[in-house]
This record gives sequence, structure tokens and C-alpha cells, in this order.
Amino acid sequence: MAFFEVRDMMIRFGGLIANEDVDLAAEEGQIVGLIGPNGAGKSTLFNAISGLIEPVRGKVLLEGENILPLLPYERAGRGIGRTFQNVRLFPSISVFENLLVAYHTRMRGGLLANVFRLPRARSDERRARGRAEEVMEIVDLHPYAQRRASELSYGTLRMAELACLLMLTPRMILLDEPASGIAQKETEALGPLLRRIRDRLGATILLIEHDMPLVMSLSDVVYCLDLGRVIASGPPAEVQRNPRVIEAYLGRRAAEQLEAALAAAAGGGSASAAGHRSGKGSRTGGRRD
Ligand SMILES: Nc1ncnc2c1ncn2[C@@H]1O[C@H](COP(=O)(O)OP(=O)(O)OP(=O)(O)O)[C@@H](O)[C@H]1O
Ligand SMILES: [Mg+2]
Repeated sequence: MAFFEVRDMMIRFGGLIANEDVDLAAEEGQIVGLIGPNGAGKSTLFNAISGLIEPVRGKVLLEGENILPLLPYERAGRGIGRTFQNVRLFPSISVFENLLVAYHTRMRGGLLANVFRLPRARSDERRARGRAEEVMEIVDLHPYAQRRASELSYGTLRMAELACLLMLTPRMILLDEPASGIAQKETEALGPLLRRIRDRLGATILLIEHDMPLVMSLSDVVYCLDLGRVIASGPPAEVQRNPRVIEAYLGRRAAEQLEAALAAAAGGGSASAAGHRSGKGSRTGGRRD
């Protein structure tokens, strides 16, 4: 039994099928990459896992238990944590305060205990501050602790958002394009950071990412979605070479040209290399803008 599994997932928006027959598995402590062209259904799958949308059918198993009947906050309580494609922080308070807010959303003391400064609320407060210190160290955010979120660069904002997620000690972390919109240097730091999070928290990570060098170098296993279906899965080096994956990203014509060029470069290849492959009709490339 895998630590985390998606089974037979189907998601519809009216007539549009956003996920169909999606199966995916992650062993504890793995980093699993989820790639695929724009509109493939990757974020939609995250929405279904975290409870923001309800699938038509399927299961999401965490240590064998189907968590789909649970409400979003209950799933978070079981250790499912996610970030969104766009940053969601409170802009006018500091990074440190944002971390405390993230923690208090699940604090057991409750509002009344807080208002009356009951002992449990005070100990929760201490725990929250301690946790914030620890998380800022993992994500290297100490220099920004007292800065308002609105003053941060986009890259640092994304790190702060990730730190908020870690406040909840997630066991299964869903990251939706953490490298999008951040500078090259920050992207380079992201790989070691995600490994550090995995190692320090013993977390399992499901990573949606368009930055191929990043996702391929980090992932133990990669799944590629296209038009809502898993078209390839396996070790990164295999998925990267898979003709269906190349075609999904580049469009069929470009994939054929690439294959022909690779065959020619390998010596004696001809431009017909891709002609034997059956495939779907020509479609425009799914490449990231
Ligand atoms: N709430 C919604 N209502 C209707 N259609 C939606 C909704 N959310 C997503 N879709 C559609 O579902 C399909 C999958 O979208 P999704 O956002 O999951 O793609 P993605 O793989 O995350 O793409 P990207 O790489 O661009 O983020 C798209 O056709 C999208 O337009
Ligand atoms: Mg998306």
C-alpha cells in the first residue's frame, strides 16, 4: 500500500472532463512530479485532493484511508497541505505574523480561550512562535521576518507562502508551480529547499512544475497529464524521453521534427522515425507562455 494514492479520479466541469482515469501513487518521503501542458488538469487534481472541488468518482487514499468524504479543513488536519498557483498571504502584516495566522487557523485553543488568555491559548501561542522560528530557519526567511508581505519580492513571497504551509506540519505537501514567476537564482535554491523540507519534516511532496530541469532533477517519479489523463509515468529520465510527453508539450509536428533530428543525430536515422507512431490529431503546442 502506497502512503498516498489517487485512484480512478474523474472530474467534470459541465461538459468538460478535466480529469479521467487518473491513478497516481507516492511512497512516503518521495518527491513526485506532476507535469503536463497548460489546461491538462493538474491544478484541478490538487483542488480535488484538498477538497475544493468534488470529483464525479475516484478515491484519494492517505495511508489507505479514503479522505474524499472529509471537509477541506479535516483533510488539512490529516496532514494534506497545499499552495496555490497564486500567492495568498495577508499583505499588510509581517511575514512572522502571517506564519502565526497560518498556525492559528487550526489552533485547538479556540477564539474564546484566546480572548480570555486561557492557559491553553498561552501555551499554543508559545508553540506557534517556536514553530514559526523553526520554519523560518528551514525556509531561510529570518531576514524577512518583520517585513510586511506587501514589501517582499515575488520570490520571497512564494517562500513565505510555503513557510505558512509548513506551520501546519503537513505530511503530504501539494505544491502548485512553486517556481513560476520567480528569478533564476531563487529557482536554483528551490531544489535544495524542497529536499530539505522533505528530509527535515519527513514529508511527501507532490510537485506541479513547468520548469523541466527542476522537476526532473528533484522527482523520484514523474507523472505527465494531458487532456485530463495520465499519458506517462515513471522515473524522470524515462518520462522526459517519452514521445507522448514530447508531443503533448510541443505539438505533434514539432515532436516529429525533434524525433527526426534526434534519429539523424544518432546516425543513419531518417525523418520518418515518428511516422510509425500512432497519435492523436495535430494540436497546437501546450508549451508554457
Ligand atoms: N472551476 C472551473 N470551472 C470550469 N472549468 C475549469 C475550472 N477549473 C479548471 N477548469 C478547466 O479545466 C481544465 C484543466 O484546468 P487546470 O487549471 O487543472 O489545468 P492545469 O493543468 O493546472 O494548467 P496550467 O498548467 O495552465 O496551470 C482547463 O480546461 C480549465 O479551463
Ligand atoms: Mg494549474
